[in-house]
Amino acid sequence: MFTIVGNGAIGNLLAFQCDNANLDYRVIARLPRPSKLNCKTNNSHIVIKPNYQSSQSMINDGIFILPLKAYQIMPAIEQFKSLIGPDVPVMLLHNGMVNHDLILQHLDSNPVIVATTSYGAFKSQTDTLNVTGMGITQAGWLRDSDDNIYYQGLFENVLPPCSWHKNILEILWRKLAVNCVINPLTALHNIKNGELAAAEYRSQITEITLEITNLMTELRLSVTQKELFENCMLVIEKTASNYSSMHQDIQKRRRTENENISGYVVSQGEVVGIPTPLNEHLYQQIKKIETHF
Ligand SMILES: NC(=O)c1ccc[n+]([C@@H]2O[C@H](COP(=O)([O-])OP(=O)(O)OC[C@H]3O[C@@H](n4cnc5c(N)ncnc54)[C@H](OP(=O)(O)O)[C@@H]3O)[C@@H](O)[C@H]2O)c1
Repeated sequence: MFTIVGNGAIGNLLAFQCDNANLDYRVIARLPRPSKLNCKTNNSHIVIKPNYQSSQSMINDGIFILPLKAYQIMPAIEQFKSLIGPDVPVMLLHNGMVNHDLILQHLDSNPVIVATTSYGAFKSQTDTLNVTGMGITQAGWLRDSDDNIYYQGLFENVLPPCSWHKNILEILWRKLAVNCVINPLTALHNIKNGELAAAEYRSQITEITLEITNLMTELRLSVTQKELFENCMLVIEKTASNYSSMHQDIQKRRRTENENISGYVVSQGEVVGIPTPLNEHLYQQIKKIETHF
């Protein structure tokens, strides 16, 4: 059984995937909760009836998944922790970084999985999910369960392919570097991801990735600046026609994940004494725009 929190794009994608694969799932969502969900892919339009459940029932089986914006993770843990059985693994599925120590403290015995996906989806209406791309999912255990392999096998059916990493923090930091480059630069310059391949952005991308390399090295995470830079350029090329999530959020005057992307790098830099001036500049620029919403 999978318990999926929220009716967001990735939450609905999980429900759609479970429905397709005949897996037991329940959705705990706020109102409005449309009784039917139109799931559109490139070549199909399937209607599912999400299995909603009250947010008051105890959860004693399967995996409890939080496919939320990074800033919604901690409030959701506060909200649900008394309902999650002590052995149920809790999966955090989001972009950006959250305070893992705090989460482990709050979930005092639950196994905890952190995951990041490159699937793409958006909601065009409350009752319509658009799946824009299949991707890969990368995951790892922040706190082990008694049966990691069993739960890994279970999750493999939902967002395949899923690779499991012992060094998941390193993976998350590498993804964070991509987000620190693509999100603020595309949002501030009002451009698609692919436009960052232009020569004029090269020095900024070099500087952002260098600051993150210094920070990761200080945190004893294995990386080189060349790897981070090249990976960013690869993602820019592969997602050239996309608008980043921060670009879309800024255009629609919605809260961004800035605090959990550039803001996280800045705060970690302050903790370990590594300067991150360009990440800080970008963080402040986005913050300034958001305060005028
Ligand atoms: N969409 C993508 O293609 C994609 C791809 C890769 C990664 N990601 C990452 O995945 C994460 C989720 O993205 P998303 O696009 O699915 O965001 P989203 O559409 O905003 O989904 C979050 C949903 O969770 C709901 N929610 C939040 N807290 C809740 C709670 N306590 N109880 C019940 N419902 C709650 C929200 O409701 P409200 O609207 O009422 O707050 C919203 O419907 C983000 O970190 C994003 O960057 C997204």
